[in-house]
Amino acid sequence: MDNDVVQDIEIEILLDVLLKRYGYDFRNYADASLKRRIQRCLTVCKFQYVSEIIPKLLYEGFFLEQLIHELSVSVTEMFRNPSVYRALRKHVIPDLKTYPFINIWHAGCSTGEEVYSMAILLKEEGLYDNARLYATDLDERAVQSAKQGMYSLDLIEEYSNNYQKAGGRNSLADYYQIKDGMAVMDGSLKKNMVFSTHNLATDSVFADMNLIFCRNVLIYFSPELKNRALNLFKNSLVRGGVLCVGKQESLEFTKVEESFSRVTNREKLYYKKVVPGAK
Ligand SMILES: C[S@@+](CC[C@H](N)C(=O)[O-])C[C@H]1O[C@@H](n2cnc3c(N)ncnc32)[C@H](O)[C@@H]1O
Repeated sequence: MDNDVVQDIEIEILLDVLLKRYGYDFRNYADASLKRRIQRCLTVCKFQYVSEIIPKLLYEGFFLEQLIHELSVSVTEMFRNPSVYRALRKHVIPDLKTYPFINIWHAGCSTGEEVYSMAILLKEEGLYDNARLYATDLDERAVQSAKQGMYSLDLIEEYSNNYQKAGGRNSLADYYQIKDGMAVMDGSLKKNMVFSTHNLATDSVFADMNLIFCRNVLIYFSPELKNRALNLFKNSLVRGGVLCVGKQESLEFTKVEESFSRVTNREKLYYKKVVPGAK
């Protein structure tokens, strides 16, 4: 039996342990990307074989958090793909302004840059006080960083450029203070934020959402898991609510395709269609 086949068996057992012992379901993640991340975990943890991870995971609960962190891809930015935020301002915000209160969910929020970007946009549009922003991720460490909202100053120049391109009305510097060499996001942005772990593979809906952002998450999922997550979003959105997915993601050829229509041709923003009689 060649080593690749043996490794596939080890990975199958590892994923089984993750599911049966801790309820984390990685079985439907796209194969190649999961293997790359497991390989990276071996290097970081100085293991030779995947099977060495298994007893640690079974008997040392604290290792779980590290493994989940290693298996997650946490790359993110403030105002990532700025044209999405311009499209939001133009096409979605006017509609959100007609509601007395709005709920927004950032699913797969990583270290939080995306939810702080949204909070800034809502402030500038006069909507922040009537909004609640839910920021969730599978990775507990990412959620903790998101809660802190502290970012390296090395990243701020790029984030400021993105903010300007996104139609920002002020200067990004108006929204953070510098402390100990870090940009600390303003407390007023956090006031209406709720942070929590949530697994799109196993957990359930967040009801009555007006807007859901889930960008650069579905790309790592198998078609089955992608359909599960999209169905969750469909059931979480109010009628006419908006779903935003990543630049390289789309609802085409998924089971929910018929339930959504594009907000604009360019951006990956979708309205949940209003079906008479349905929720
Ligand atoms: C590449 S980041 C995207 C961050 C942000 N949405 C953006 O576009 O900049 C992907 C995030 O999805 C999270 N993730 C992966 N699988 C998940 C799952 N099953 N449930 C919830 N979050 C998940 C990862 O932990 C990671 O933080």
